[in-house]
This record gives sequence, C-alpha cells and structure tokens, in this order.
Amino acid sequence: MKKLHIKLPHDSYDIIFDEWDSPEFEKTVAEFDRGGQILTVSERKLQKLYPLAAYRYGELFLLQGTEENKSMAEIERLLECAVEKGCDRKSLFIAFGGGIVGDMTGFASSIFMRGIDFIQVPTTLLAMVDSSVGGKTGVNLASGKNLAGAFHQPKAVLTDVHFLETLPEREIRNGLGEIVKYGVGLSKDLFELLENNVEGLKNLDLELYRKVVYDCCEVKCSIVQQDEKEQGVRALLNLGHTFGHAVEAVSNFEITHGEAVAIGLVCAGELALRLNLWRKDDFDRMYSLMLKLGLPVKLRKEWKFDDMMKIMLHDKKTESGKLKIVLPTSIGSSIVEKNIPENLIRESMEACRE
Ligand code: GLY
Repeated sequence: MKKLHIKLPHDSYDIIFDEWDSPEFEKTVAEFDRGGQILTVSERKLQKLYPLAAYRYGELFLLQGTEENKSMAEIERLLECAVEKGCDRKSLFIAFGGGIVGDMTGFASSIFMRGIDFIQVPTTLLAMVDSSVGGKTGVNLASGKNLAGAFHQPKAVLTDVHFLETLPEREIRNGLGEIVKYGVGLSKDLFELLENNVEGLKNLDLELYRKVVYDCCEVKCSIVQQDEKEQGVRALLNLGHTFGHAVEAVSNFEITHGEAVAIGLVCAGELALRLNLWRKDDFDRMYSLMLKLGLPVKLRKEWKFDDMMKIMLHDKKTESGKLKIVLPTSIGSSIVEKNIPENLIRESMEACRE
C-alpha cells in the first residue's frame, strides 16, 4: 500500500493506492462514515463488472457516464434519489467510476444539503491520474464543457490499478492522453519514463501503471497544493485542453477527452513553435511518443477553425474575450500565454490537419 498526502488549507486528504477490497480502503470509508446513509454513485456497466464493489457501501445510484448525460438534469435526479434513500447532512457519497461519475458525484455532494462529504474511487486511467484528485467537480452546459461546478475536495481517493484490467483499449488511450500531458508540460522524468516504456504501456503492464499513476498524482498534488483554486500555476494542468475541449465539442464527443487532449497537445506544440517558445526536436519527441502510443494527432477536415475558435472563446480560461493558452517551453515545462495573434492560432491548427 502506498499513500500520497495532499495538504490544503482546509481540506487535506490522502490518495491511497491499494486494492478495492483491502482493509485500508475499508478503514478509510469507516473513518469518514459519520452515521448517515451512504450513497454509492456508479455506472451500470461497472455494477455488472464489479457487483460486489458497487454494492459494497450503502445505497446505489446508477448513471450513464457519457458527456451528454453530464448535466444539471442528471444532478437533480441524483439529489432526488439521495433524499428518497434517506441521505442527510451526515451522509457520505462514494463516486465509484470514471471521471464523469467522479465529477458529478463531487458536484452533487458540494450542493446536497449545502455540502456533504464524498470519497473518490476512480476506476478509469483518466480518473486515476487526473479527475479524482484536486476537487474540481461539475457538469456541462449546452454552451460548453464543465461550465457549471464547484471546487469541492474529496475526503479521500482510493485508487486500485486492477480496475484498469477490464478497461477497453480506447479507455486506456483516453488516460494516456492526460499522462503524456503531465510529461510534456510538467515532468521531464515522467516523459522519459513513458518514452522508455512504450511497450509496457501498450501491454498494460500493471506494475508500470502503478508507478505512472502514482507519479502523475504526485505531480498533480504538488500543483494543487500551490494553487487549489486555479489562480496561477494550476492552469498549467490544462496544457492541450483549450484546443482539446473544442475538439470534443465539434466531434459531438465522439473523440474522448484524453484523445482530444492529445490532438490539443499537437496544436499547442505547433503554436509554441511559431512563437519560438520551444525547439522542433522537443516537438518531434512529443509527436513521436504519441504516435507510438496510438494517440490521435490530427484535426479532422470537417472540424472548422471558426467553429473551434467560437468554442475556445467560451473556455473557462478566457478572460475579457482574450484566449489564455498553456504552451510548452521544453519537455517538462510550460507557461500560460495571452495575447496570441489569431492568425498564428489558425496557422498552427491548419498545420495539424489530416
Ligand atoms: N484537470 C485539471 C485540474 O484538475 O486542474
């Protein structure tokens, strides 16, 4: 069993790396059980794969883990179910699932009876390395992704990499997009670990994933500890995301978040080249790693620049109508750039077309 501690002014917590049926997980849930009704929030497909895990604690609420379903209407359904099952201020919600389940359970727990506790049990690679850590919760609005939400930290994150064994290949790639982002934007060591272990990553070597997931969480903890509410350095976690969110939207979410981030990394990399922020050989290293991992690297012809730009201008990082984009400066470091000429953004995106 390994642990990471995330130290915050009000809501410090542990990320515990163990097996879902371990005494350590059991102890952690017991520690935060304040005697109210526990509600486990999960997905139907997980209930089938892991009936014991999904039913382990309290009552069960099932949702569909799709972006279309990540909505206010579904939150209302969840909250009504919580009332019906007898939840109160002492209740604990447990998010047992991927990023959508985690974001929605976190958001619901931030507003249920003005805020109750919750625990994250991430079951996808993406949720393990990113969304379960750091307290960002929320839902999509018709006008954009994750536009309504709250910062609400979990009481604990319980991570078991064995859940990766039942994920479809595309879900692993979904996580790999975010993992490459950590390497390119924030950790040269992690990038090199990925570069040196492409086969292990493709063959789902669980020992390797144990290390990669831990290392990503360590990077994320250090960033969130410095800047919990994204007033500064936390924005760097959004490398590839401004373009990526636009890709998700123009593809009607046919492209997964991590795949979109991968394409977004290439757009950001092209833009950084045009702004002389980083070297071509660093771009080539990133591009080659993504190709080897089977990640998408091209914008499709039918995704029009104007449509994507409109979506990017609704991005949460946009300030007074001006785009703020995270760009790489070398492998393992990145900065936030403002006032980027639109023609350079257009040129960079055209360079990424298939
Ligand atoms: N997923 C980016 C963040 O948590 O800040």
